Parts: sequence; C-alpha cells; structure tokens
Amino acid sequence: MSSFKTSHFLPLPPLSLRTPPPSYRKPTIISTYSHLPDRSIQHDDSSMTYYRAAPIGADLNYGFDRRIERDEDLDEHLDGVCDALRHVEEKGGKGERKGGIITWRGMITRIMTAPYEDREGWEMTAIALDGSVYVELHDPPDVRANRRKQQSTWAWQTYMGYSFESFSTVPAEAGTGDKDFPEGWGGDVNTNVQWCNVVRSAIGDIPLCLGGEVDCVRAEPGTSHPGLESCVELKTNKVIENEKQEFIFHKKLLKHWAQSWLLGIPEVQVGFRDDHGILLNQRRFETEKIPRFIASIPSAHPPWTPNPCLHFLHAVLNLVITNVLPTDPCSRYTPGSINPEDDLPPATIWRFSFIPRRGCELYKVG
Ligand code: A3P
Ligand code: MG
Ligand code: MG
Repeated sequence: MSSFKTSHFLPLPPLSLRTPPPSYRKPTIISTYSHLPDRSIQHDDSSMTYYRAAPIGADLNYGFDRRIERDEDLDEHLDGVCDALRHVEEKGGKGERKGGIITWRGMITRIMTAPYEDREGWEMTAIALDGSVYVELHDPPDVRANRRKQQSTWAWQTYMGYSFESFSTVPAEAGTGDKDFPEGWGGDVNTNVQWCNVVRSAIGDIPLCLGGEVDCVRAEPGTSHPGLESCVELKTNKVIENEKQEFIFHKKLLKHWAQSWLLGIPEVQVGFRDDHGILLNQRRFETEKIPRFIASIPSAHPPWTPNPCLHFLHAVLNLVITNVLPTDPCSRYTPGSINPEDDLPPATIWRFSFIPRRGCELYKVG
C-alpha cells in the first residue's frame, strides 16, 4: 500500500503516553430509528426494549433452532445513519451534516481501541461530501467470506449473546405470552431487529455524528425513550475461574467501555455463563468508572488506559479530515445551494488501514 503516491503514515502512540488526551464531548441524541423483523427501517422506537435482569440459571441455548439471522451479505453501508439524518432534515432540523465525521459507532470503537489491538487489522473508506467526511468499513468480498467462515464456527457462542439479550429484556409490545417459554424469555431471536440511536459528539475539535445499536433502556415497559442516561449495553462472558480468564476479561472491558462510552451509554450489564450456556451470575459496570476499575487492579502494567486510545482516535480523524475534506466535490458550492440534479464532479475515494502494532496509513484510491 505504501506504493501509493499520496500516502500518509501515523504511528501508534506509546502506550505509556501521559500527555492529557483530547476531550470527548458528552453525546446528545439527534434521532433514533428501528429495524423491524423484516429489516425495514421505521423512524421511531418500536424496537426499543426494556431491561429486566435475566433469571440466574437461564439456559442461553434456548431457542437456537428458531433464530432468524440477518443476511450479512447485504452491505448496508451508512444507509441507516443517512436515512435518519434525512428524516431529521425533512422535519426541519438543520446543521447535522455540516463538518466532521459521519459514521457508525463501531468504526470509532475500532480506531479508538487500535493501540491495544495486536492481531486484527482493518480498512475503512472515507469520502468527503458537502462539508462532512463519511467513513465506513472497507469490506471486500474475500475479507467478508473469510469472516463468515470464522463466524460459523462461533455460531453457538454468538447466539448466546443474543439469547442473553432476550432473557434480559421486555419488548415494547409484549406478545400474549407463550406458556411454553422459559421464565424471562423476551421473544425469539431475530437479528434483523435493532434499535439505533444517532448521536452528536466530538473528539477535541472534530465534530462526530455517530449511529449505533442500543440494547435496551432501564425504564418502565411501555414508556417512551427515557434518554441516553437510561440506556444499557448487554454483554456475555464465560464465567471467570482463574487469573488468566480474569486478565482476558479485563482486556475485553476496553472494547465494552469504548463501545458504550462513545454513544453515551452509562451502564454495561455482563452475564457470566458456564461452558454449557447456563447463566451463573451477572455484574453491572458503570461505563465511566470502567477505566478507574482497570487502573485499580494491582499489576505492574495495567491491561489498558484510555489515554493512548483518545490520542490515537484524534490523530487518525485529524489526518482523515485534513486530507479528505479538501477533496470535497461540493467545496465550490455554498452549503445548501446544490441542486440534486446538478452534475457534481465525482467524489474522491480515500482509504485508511490499520496495521496492528504499527499504525494507520491513509491513501487515495480514486
Ligand atoms: P456478546 O457481546 O454478549 O457476545 P452487542 O454486544 O454489540 O450488542 O452484540 C450482541 C451480540 O452479537 C454479541 O453478544 C455477540 O454474540 C454478537 N456479536 C456482536 N459483534 C460481533 C462480532 N464482531 N463478531 C461476532 N459476534 C458479534
Ligand atoms: Mg447490541
Ligand atoms: Mg450487547
């Protein structure tokens, strides 16, 4: 990749970095939407569910044969976020697209946790349009096929994550209740169904517009969206029986923390299961206290600190913004003056890739 002429390389920061990091602005909601069982989008909270602790002893294998899985071959790009922004604009909302980065929360989680990622590289595409930079995963068919193959070997573990979600939630429209369902079951798993929140935030001086799935809210079933401060992220983990497993869990908490914190979700509920999929216990983590919890673990080297993550996130996005934004085909137009029927010059496509233990490279592809 370094053969590309316009290539910029950003090395990873040292993990011992002490310089104060750029601040992350508290996220605020721009809009919410729901994916329905057929994957269609509705601009409301119909897929929002309510937290209710899963019963200890729940069998997370339950319902495996009845699961419906989203077709991951359909590349949705940034459709959900863009649809939500369009919906806000149609209702008269302004200014949500002007400046900064528009992407999925998952992309920002990957960039942010990269300083501690030793194995998995990734590639993202960046395109400037009308004053903002749109960022999505570059997911070529061979990479996707490879991932699908790996995922199929994890199908059972993956299912237990969704099954824990069902046992931990009450849907907005509870059915009449099937007497054969086990205690606490919130309904059969259909991974088409998702509730998404689109938020506005910023890292340092870089505005962010992020879309991400939220698992549930802590509120009385039937009530309307209680706000980000009541949102809950659900996770599963194998029960911790020795120091090595504990260390692995503490490392995983970096991803859980980043995923929730970026969207402004204050609580992560982790369900611990045994090898057979039986829920043995659960533990609540306050998102903002996770870094302090990690720092308090007696160890010569903490498994992670947020500092290099925030520095790296800001540095990568700054590199992207400063190089990609000037290639905006709309830069010659005043905002809002573009007629959708005008022939615009083609957008310039950029890529940035992460090479584990090394850093990030940005280059133009067309
Ligand atoms: P667990 O995280 O409990 O394992 P999320 O936690 O982000 O809401 O996702 C719900 C479940 O989807 C996860 O539950 C996991 O089973 C599955 N999942 C999410 N991201 C995944 C990934 N990158 N690879 C494999 N499975 C994933
Ligand atoms: Mg989820
Ligand atoms: Mg979850």
